[in-house]
Amino acid sequence: MPILKLPGLIDPHVHLREPGAPHKETWDTGTAAALAGGFTCVLDMPNNTPPVVDATALSAKDRVAREHARCDYGFHLGANEENAADTAALAPYTVGLKMYLDQTFGPLKMEGLGALIAHARAWHPDHPLLCHAEGRTIAAAILAAHLAGRAIHICHVSRKDEIELIRAAKEQGIRVTCEVTPHHLFLTDADIPAIGPGRAEVRPRLATAADRDALRANLTIVDCFATDHAPHTLPEKDSENPPPGFPGLETALPLYLALVDAGLLTLNGLIERVVTNPRRIFGLPEQTETWVEVDTAAVWQVHGADLFTRARWSPFEGWTMRGGVTRVVLNGKDAFRDGTIVAAPGSGRNVRKSINEMSLRGAS
Ligand code: DOR
Ligand code: ZN
Ligand code: ZN
Repeated sequence: MPILKLPGLIDPHVHLREPGAPHKETWDTGTAAALAGGFTCVLDMPNNTPPVVDATALSAKDRVAREHARCDYGFHLGANEENAADTAALAPYTVGLKMYLDQTFGPLKMEGLGALIAHARAWHPDHPLLCHAEGRTIAAAILAAHLAGRAIHICHVSRKDEIELIRAAKEQGIRVTCEVTPHHLFLTDADIPAIGPGRAEVRPRLATAADRDALRANLTIVDCFATDHAPHTLPEKDSENPPPGFPGLETALPLYLALVDAGLLTLNGLIERVVTNPRRIFGLPEQTETWVEVDTAAVWQVHGADLFTRARWSPFEGWTMRGGVTRVVLNGKDAFRDGTIVAAPGSGRNVRKSINEMSLRGAS
């Protein structure tokens, strides 16, 4: 059995849904899915119900993650039209400030140019600022950050024009980084009928084959891979009003390895995009005594019902994958072994200070 040993993977962009929608995913099930996929650290997005835009919501999320996370984690804080003056005080407890500049799931879309500029100026200059932006909005976000003298990270770049714009900005020395998802690297709008129209809803939408090819041709510009693991239940996806989003934690690594097999990326280039660059961009601590073992010859078929995610479906249903995670060791202990989650809920660590640490200490 050819075993490949990798450092623990980092996913800088997941939606674990708790608090607010535990029927879609919980910290328990979402971090189980992470470990099964080879991820030992996940950074969670703020578009919960209620959204994580202040200390109260952040401490509620911190409490549930602290009790239930099976792998290491961090929280992105959400920007809104009102909180620009208040976010910097929360920077020590978060891994980044997320701005929603185009429409997607949740209530956090900011309409005004003023709010974008205010957040780019007010957020701590050394803490990551990231955004959901598509098309022309990406240009606005890059310029606002540049004029504020700071870096910006563009989430889930999906189109040719966008990656080429980011390339041009980088060539000018502008401080912009970006991530792409496995689904935008492997699926296109031609796959929508087979996936089903509701299930195929995702933001950014699945794009054209030319867009996918442009992402693949510009991997040198792509700093990170991120799953954007965004679980919704099958009844929700198959409803009249399907929410956008795909579960992705358990299918990502074999797809990333397929890019290496196809000669689009070296193994070191993959490790940069799933470990080293996310760690650098989001200022994450090194995970010691932490690694992942992958049987590179293992061939398996994706069946949603077999996954650990509570969503129990995948846009890659029926795909044949090569590469199976056989073991994950996190902080010196087995966390996943031969198909079984070993790490206990609550064993994961916050990569930042816990906002509740003082009050929890006070209570004990
Ligand atoms: O498809 C998406 N789903 N895109 C996003 O930006 C948000 C996510 C979600 O939270 O469901
Ligand atoms: Zn997004
Ligand atoms: Zn997302």
